[in-house]
Parts: sequence; C-alpha cells; structure tokens
Amino acid sequence: MDQNRIIFFDTTLRDGEQTPGVALQVSEKVEIAQNLVRLGVDVIEAGFPAASPGDFKAVQTIAREVKGATICGLARANINDIQKVADALADAERSRLHCFIATSDIHLEYKLKMTRAEAIEKVKEVLAFAKGKFDEIEFSAEDASRTDMDYLCEVFGVAIAGGATTLNVPDTVGYMTPQEFADKIRYIKEHTPGIENAIISVHCHDDLGLANANTLAALQAGARQVECTINGLGERAGNVGIEEVVMSIKTRHDIYPFDVNIDTKRFTRTSKLVSRLTGVAVPPNKAIIGANAFAHESGIHQHGVLNNPGTYEIMTPESVGAEKSAIVLGKHSGKHAFADHLVTLGFVFDDEKVTDLFTKFKALADRKKQVFDDDVIALVMDNIDRK
Ligand code: KIV
Ligand code: ZN
Repeated sequence: MDQNRIIFFDTTLRDGEQTPGVALQVSEKVEIAQNLVRLGVDVIEAGFPAASPGDFKAVQTIAREVKGATICGLARANINDIQKVADALADAERSRLHCFIATSDIHLEYKLKMTRAEAIEKVKEVLAFAKGKFDEIEFSAEDASRTDMDYLCEVFGVAIAGGATTLNVPDTVGYMTPQEFADKIRYIKEHTPGIENAIISVHCHDDLGLANANTLAALQAGARQVECTINGLGERAGNVGIEEVVMSIKTRHDIYPFDVNIDTKRFTRTSKLVSRLTGVAVPPNKAIIGANAFAHESGIHQHGVLNNPGTYEIMTPESVGAEKSAIVLGKHSGKHAFADHLVTLGFVFDDEKVTDLFTKFKALADRKKQVFDDDVIALVMDNIDRK
C-alpha cells in the first residue's frame, strides 16, 4: 500500500455510542454504516458484541448487509468476547477483531488486578485463540499513552508475534500533548520488534481539546491509521472527529502530505444523519460541521467574503457539502452586506435610499439578536413609497 495513505477506522457505532444518553437501534446503525461506506472509511467498528444481545445483533446485521468496508468488532482480552466477535462477523466481506487490554500500571492495578507479566500472558493466550478466525487482527493497549514505554513496546511485540497487524495506541483519557504523543509514536517505531510490517494506529480522546492536534502529530511521526467518529462523538469529551482530521490534511497538505480516500462532500449530510439518529446536537461553532462554520456576521468579514471568500474562509463550504457561505445580518453587519442582501431579496434602490434603510436596519439590529429576511422585507415595505 501507498506509504502515505491514511486508513480511517470509524468507531461512531462503538466508542461514539458510548456517548452518555446515546442508544441506537439496529436499523439506525445499519443506516449509519451504509453512509460511512459512502463517505469512504476503510474500517467500521460496528460494536462490542459481548456487551449486549442488541450489540451482537447490530454487529451481525452490519456484517451481513454492509459491504465495501472492513467490519470490525471489539473484544476484551478474553476467549468469550473473541468468540462472540467471530460469530457476529461470520458473514462479513472482510472481518477484523479489535482486541484490547489495559497496559498502564494504574489500570493493571486498580481495574484488572493483574501484573504486567500476567497481562502479557493474557495477550499471548487470547491471540492464539483468535488466530485464523478473522481476516485481520488489531490489538489495542488501553491507556497506552500513560503506559511505561518499554513495557508498551514489549506488549506490542508480543501482539505482533501473535498475529496482530495493526497496533493501536489509544490516548484513552485524552492526556497527551502533540509533541509528546509524536515522540511516543517514534519510540514505538524504533523499539517494537516486528513493527516494520505492522500499521501503527492512534485513537485520541478530546479531554483537553487536543485530539485532532495529537492525531496529526502522530501521523507526522509515522502512524498510518486514525480511529475517529462522526461529529467527535465518544466517551466524555469524545473522540477525534473524522471531519477535523481529514480537512486538516486537505487544507494543510503542505504540512500533512498524506493521501486520504474520503469523500469530503459527504461530511455535512453524514454529520446531520448521525446527529438526528443519536439525538446529539452539533454545537454551532464546531469546526467544519457546525451551523456557523461558514457564517459571517461582522461587516468587515462580510465585505471581505462578498468580494473574495478566501479572505475569511480557508476551505469552501461546497468542499464539505455545506450550504454556501451564510451572511448573517446583525448589528455588526456593514452597509455592503446589507445592500447585497436587499438585492437577493429583490429590492434595488439608489444609494441614498439604501443608506436610509441601513440606518433603520442598524436601529432594529440593536434591538434584535439576529435580523431575518422577514424583518428586512417589513422594514423595506414600511419605508418605501407605494403609489
Ligand atoms: O479509548 C480507548 O482506549 C478505547 C479502546 C477500547 C481502544 O476505546
Ligand atoms: Zn476510546
């Protein structure tokens, strides 16, 4: 495969469904999965089959009905979970097991009550069981970013020897900073036996708002798979949003010279679908997919965008499938945008009349947060001579 091609692993249906309050029906998961294929993701993590009969059914149905991407199921490092993933993925066009175990001392001691050596034995045992049951195996070291680095490389080496071809480095608690995370990826590349034939994956949570920056830094350091969700859904502050990673790569290709196979024009509609089905609204100021991502309110910005959108937009709304740039009329709007808006509403006046209407509009805008088309039309009708 092309050395610079980034694999997109979407976990909206697994980590994204771990967003508090989100519970998707099987049919809704299938609809989202079909849209993820259209978007161009490579791997769909369809769920965690051992978590509940509903999750098992969803993974099985997606494996049967959704073609065009690798379908993946999550399992803890135990035989029962892995068997459930194998059963659920039996009819997949291409199947992937995603097996994880925590490796940081805090997780080993307080959650798993295991020693480091016992965790390594567990990885050997379960991967021996998994061998031959899937087209691909991915191994994740949960809380990798807070794991002792030499131990992490040892665990990854054992996982590779056991058949894993993708090694995922989750920043489970969103604790990393970009430089630090990139250093860890480089360390893993240099110190893990067998890593030259494997893909390094990253899975960044957004607890410090650094998920996208950490993901991009990891790619620069050699990671080639990104685990992400639509709209940045996920546990706590969420996972990195696919739209942010992809548009960062596309917009700053000079810095991130990677190849992606994502149809960016589908971002807006996929975002809306996921928001509608999960019931989780996208904040209006969210990058790329927020309702205000291409809206301009101040007069200075509006004037610039009307003359040349490049003055205040670093990507086009069309490139992410959004409506064309919105000029929002409010108290910061300038005469230029107001006059332009009058024309779009069908009113053509001389400059003197426009100036008069603009003064009245400013007075109105001081009283109202946002001035809608109906307000402008009413203002015009009240102030023109009707013979
Ligand atoms: O955040 C995390 O560590 C996870 C793992 C299961 C990969 O979601
Ligand atoms: Zn996660």
